[in-house]
Amino acid sequence: MQEKKVLITIFGGTGDLAQRKLYPSLFRLYQKGHLKDQFAVIGTARRPWSNEKYREVILASIANLASSEEQAVTFASHFYYQSHDVNDTNHYATLKNLADELDREYELDGNRLFYLAMSPTFFGTIVNHLKSQGMLTSEGYHRVIIEKPFGTDFATAEALNKEITNVFDESEIYRIDHYLGKEMIQSISAVRFANMLFEAMWNNRYIDNVQINLAENLGVEERGGYYDQSGALKDMVQNHILQVLALLAMDPPAAFNEAEIRSEKIKALRAIRLYDEEEVAKNFVRGQYVEGKIAGRKYQGYKEEENVNPDSRTETFVAGRFYIDNFRWSGVPFYVRTGKRMTEKGTRINIVFKSVPINLFSHSFDEEKQNLQKPEPNVLTIYIQPTEGFSLSLNGKEVGNNFNLLPVKLDYRNSAEIIANTPEAYEKLILDSLNGDGTNFTHWQEVAQSWKIVDQIRKAWDNDTTSEIPTYAAGTMGPDEAFHLIAEDGFEWVWQPDNWYRERG
Ligand code: BG6
Repeated sequence: MQEKKVLITIFGGTGDLAQRKLYPSLFRLYQKGHLKDQFAVIGTARRPWSNEKYREVILASIANLASSEEQAVTFASHFYYQSHDVNDTNHYATLKNLADELDREYELDGNRLFYLAMSPTFFGTIVNHLKSQGMLTSEGYHRVIIEKPFGTDFATAEALNKEITNVFDESEIYRIDHYLGKEMIQSISAVRFANMLFEAMWNNRYIDNVQINLAENLGVEERGGYYDQSGALKDMVQNHILQVLALLAMDPPAAFNEAEIRSEKIKALRAIRLYDEEEVAKNFVRGQYVEGKIAGRKYQGYKEEENVNPDSRTETFVAGRFYIDNFRWSGVPFYVRTGKRMTEKGTRINIVFKSVPINLFSHSFDEEKQNLQKPEPNVLTIYIQPTEGFSLSLNGKEVGNNFNLLPVKLDYRNSAEIIANTPEAYEKLILDSLNGDGTNFTHWQEVAQSWKIVDQIRKAWDNDTTSEIPTYAAGTMGPDEAFHLIAEDGFEWVWQPDNWYRERG
């Protein structure tokens, strides 16, 4: 394996994301040999830390991963800290000197990766200064990874994109959506395009509806301030849900590469129906959690959370129905559902197939039952987390002299051991960016279209300042309105507790 020669500069190097996700991911890449001797990391933030202090933080963030102290200490010796005010031009000159020095010392060939892991309000300023202060070398590559949120609506996203593309080419911009680094999100393409069985039926002739669930049992934790400004629609639907939807709905790409996959995803997103206000009211439900219990423990309501406005109208839950107006999907509802403080953490996709055209089994042959039998629709479930795998529910026959239908499930899940060793999304995505592969990042056109879709919904909700926001008790699967939404169409949310992991894990 060839090691990656690179200087990584992390803006927001003292932050929570850096400590929880980025340093452990870089360490795993180091353990696997992708990063070896020729790499260096500069962490920047306002705090006046020394290299020693910074390295202590690095060591703490990888404490449970290291196989030996020596390995951890050698890894941490590649990290340098530079206190930095993103608005101060002089600070970029200091940063440049350090970068040039490290480039020479580690022989990095001018390869530079910038990671913007701080408030998006600074993204534009940072990239402009990187250019004006000569941080972008003429030899080697320069790439930038940008954390979400990319804008707060279409207009702000477009303005931000302009600033960034003044400095970086689209092919050098890696807009992160960590869902695209998840093992089973990447597996969607394997399930679809490596199995004739599914792809042949992946359309409105055979599929009744599609359900995308991103349920969380966590609340807003320490992020009340951010979340109250954002809400579930912008926090989860604009990015993660629409990305998953695009992967499920897109046509098979001409080749399995960045350009072809992107082009299909963009086409799918463009075919999503844009709703006017009346249609938003019909197709989308929002909710806010109130006090309730999860697994026996009591949790306070959203309005009582720290840094949340006690009169907040921010939604902590969204359920909705999208339509994709193209030949493949015309008429098939794509239901989405996400929320905080729901019953359990469960990221799951259900593809619900149509029922058989004629029911040959309506009469039970079991005299005692005498009920009307109906084959259950086939459902393909893709389990993203906490368990990983997929299952297909089918109908078989009960053993015996009678002819009774028996629902059965073909279930493939990764073992607990594999799940424990699944590479973190961030690890995969950082490696992709070092390889120059943008397949699992979001292209500007995808971001733009997603905002256009979400802006319509947001606008309708913002204009409605009076109607009550439906509530749901913590520990439930959302407000009643979300169940009515799907019931109106004669369907129901397919949801079984994710017991498998606990039983066998
Ligand atoms: C983030 C959201 O993008 O995704 C969080 O900002 C959310 O609010 C998180 O909790 C969920 O990610 P995961 O990987 O835990 O499903």
